[in-house]
Amino acid sequence: MATIKELIDSLYENEDLSDEGLHRIITEMDAETAPYLFEKALEKKSNFYKDTVYMRGLIEFTNYCKQNCAYCGIRGKNSKVDRYRLSKEMIMNCCEEGYALGYRTFVMQGGEDPFFTDEVLCDIVSTIKATYPDCAITLSVGERSRESYAALKAAGADRYLLRHETATKALYDALHPGMSFENRRNCLYTLKELGFQVGAGFMVGLPNQTPADLVADLRFIKTLAPEMVGIGPYIPHDETPLKGSKGGTVEETLIMVALARLLLPKALLPSTTAMGTLDPKGREKALKAGANVVMPNLSPTDVREKYELYKDKICTGDEAAHCRQCIEGRIKSAGFRVDMGRGDHASIQVPEEAQAVQIKI
Ligand code: 5AD
Ligand code: FES
Repeated sequence: MATIKELIDSLYENEDLSDEGLHRIITEMDAETAPYLFEKALEKKSNFYKDTVYMRGLIEFTNYCKQNCAYCGIRGKNSKVDRYRLSKEMIMNCCEEGYALGYRTFVMQGGEDPFFTDEVLCDIVSTIKATYPDCAITLSVGERSRESYAALKAAGADRYLLRHETATKALYDALHPGMSFENRRNCLYTLKELGFQVGAGFMVGLPNQTPADLVADLRFIKTLAPEMVGIGPYIPHDETPLKGSKGGTVEETLIMVALARLLLPKALLPSTTAMGTLDPKGREKALKAGANVVMPNLSPTDVREKYELYKDKICTGDEAAHCRQCIEGRIKSAGFRVDMGRGDHASIQVPEEAQAVQIKI
């Protein structure tokens, strides 16, 4: 039988591996072999992206949400959340500050908030695009109709993040009351068809999640081939039905990040805030395991702690400029270089006018 190291080598060579092989890597990984996996994943990333790490400015613009995901701190039924929505003017102020700090991608994230109809959201997107034509706009606002996604694309949105959360139907259904596993996947296919750069992704360490479920997540992303894959540890939140559950670890999440890199060599893989929350060096570790994106917060400080998806989320008291510097320091100390450009997927040809400003630090 092949050793784990041989399986990693085969995955590195072929950019694919059988489900059995992936399952063995996940279940038989030990502290001696993990560094080898991370090293190979980093080598793969370097082939396409060298030593660069892309920065995105994250604007958490509404914490209203009509959904009730069992793990999520801002689920609609959590009556303890102090709900907020940023006005268009406040969002534009965030972009202005972000642009001055060098960001050329804005990630607009929010709960599924019915206030942001197509009309309202398209107006905001097109205003950002008209003001900052050299910037990419990423949306992360959940499930919407094809018509809605098409309108947002036409308004100027370039990318869309919609984690699939888990590729196992039974687990998905248990965690997402009133939502449809099929619909979520259909949204991802629709977004792809419409020409968005698409981000899928999942949590690691969900209650009742098995190694076979994680293999299903990896198989799903290999098949869908999204441009981005967000992978983070599940972290319990006390005001949810999953209060008191165990949560994922940095180590098991790093393994999934590295495997995602080896399966999708050109993917944009964020080193997530959840990693930094579990371990002060979590984000640096993810970068060394193949991640190549960080998303520092640009939201106004007075709303930050209200966007609490999970317990003890970091950066809630920090100004945008502080996070910008903090992350840059972390990236450099981990041996990488900050790239403040749009940071498109390696297969994307960006029109010249959109490349106007490419600041390298
Ligand atoms: N722990 C970790 N990640 C979470 N998310 C939501 N709640 C939690 C939690 N408790 C993730 C989901 C969602 C993304 C925005 O945040 O994967 O898609
Ligand atoms: Fe926000 Fe470090 S990134 S304080």
